[in-house]
Amino acid sequence: MKRDKTTVGRQMIQWAKLHMPVLSQIMSHFSRTKPLRGLQIGAALHVEAKTAVLMKTLIEGGAKVAITGCNPLSTKDEVATALAGEGAQVFAKRGESKQEYYKNLNRVLATKPDILIDDGGDLIVLAHKKPKLITQILGASEETTTGVIRLKAMERDRVLRIPVIAVNDSPGKRYFDNRFGTAESTLQALMSITNTQISGKKVVVIGFGFVGRGIASRARGLGARVVVVESDPVKALEATFEGFEVLPMRNAARVGDIFITATGSYHVIRKEHFRIMKDKAILCNAGHFNVEIDIGGLAQISKKRRKIMEDVEEFTLRNGRRLYLLTEGRLVNLAGRRSLGHPIEIMDLSFSLQALSVEYLAKYGSQMEPGVYNVPPEIDRKVVTLKLKAMGVELEPLTPEQQEYQRSWEMGT
Ligand code: ADE
Repeated sequence: MKRDKTTVGRQMIQWAKLHMPVLSQIMSHFSRTKPLRGLQIGAALHVEAKTAVLMKTLIEGGAKVAITGCNPLSTKDEVATALAGEGAQVFAKRGESKQEYYKNLNRVLATKPDILIDDGGDLIVLAHKKPKLITQILGASEETTTGVIRLKAMERDRVLRIPVIAVNDSPGKRYFDNRFGTAESTLQALMSITNTQISGKKVVVIGFGFVGRGIASRARGLGARVVVVESDPVKALEATFEGFEVLPMRNAARVGDIFITATGSYHVIRKEHFRIMKDKAILCNAGHFNVEIDIGGLAQISKKRRKIMEDVEEFTLRNGRRLYLLTEGRLVNLAGRRSLGHPIEIMDLSFSLQALSVEYLAKYGSQMEPGVYNVPPEIDRKVVTLKLKAMGVELEPLTPEQQEYQRSWEMGT
């Protein structure tokens, strides 16, 4: 049976919605209350099925929506086509050039959005380069660690002109999406692109933040011997107490079969590391931008570079060893043709937080000073509570005596 692109995309969106009970409830609520009536929303997100469910939720809430990708490789074209048929303006296709990527961000901004939703900060930064537009924007929400770091730097330098809700930093996002979501999606992508085994391999995870620790623990669960590379002393000690071997990159480079960067930093794997790696080592990145692996440096010290199959490039060094780079060093869990992004249930949490943060900005954005804000705790609690309910997990209620005990500073014994 041959199905056209729109049908395939629609089916992917329906499948995602089926596994997003919290966002589905918010969608029904938005459909009744129309909290976003009359608003134009501009988004730069990974254009895939879960994101489409978020866009449909906003449309149900009364908004007009324009969306582009936040990475040149992460758009699922079937979803983009289907979403365009469901009332959103979609400016995205997989494999965009850098120029097309920026052209599409500009197209979203040309719709004069009242609220922005960003993943990585590019859309918000670009909006700041348009003096007339930025004064009309009520606020924005930001999905990821890298974006929040950029926005906090803008706040510090006193150039941030709008309120931004850092969805990434809320417990309901970071403890689940960053940690469990990235772990599963990164390993899923690694396995489906390479079809090589994880079990028995030495996997080097660079960075032991929420993302790195999730990947390290799931890779261990699959039978890998995991090495962690970390520059922060507390995180390095945590990794050690978790039972991981902690090594500096110059030592880890010699022993790894698979390298996964998760630092949000710059050139954490460099020429001096490539030179001492084993033949056939695999390199990939789980961070937002493609700057963690020094690809230019790798190309410089290679005598040959060629694409050997979908999403895999081979670099042959002068010493004859071959290194394999996945998805051009872009975030492997979304940039690969067969990469699926985080599991749907995880994005149910993250995108429910996004939907309610947008509703909050619609209500209060005009009264908020420019700055980076946490997700209001009541939103976080609501989303997590709905998720537990949807999963059939019950809490243990505190007795009145326990509540009293917790309030009192006198009852020590
Ligand atoms: N799907 C949509 N957005 C995503 C994100 N930021 N990370 C992983 N999967 C996603």
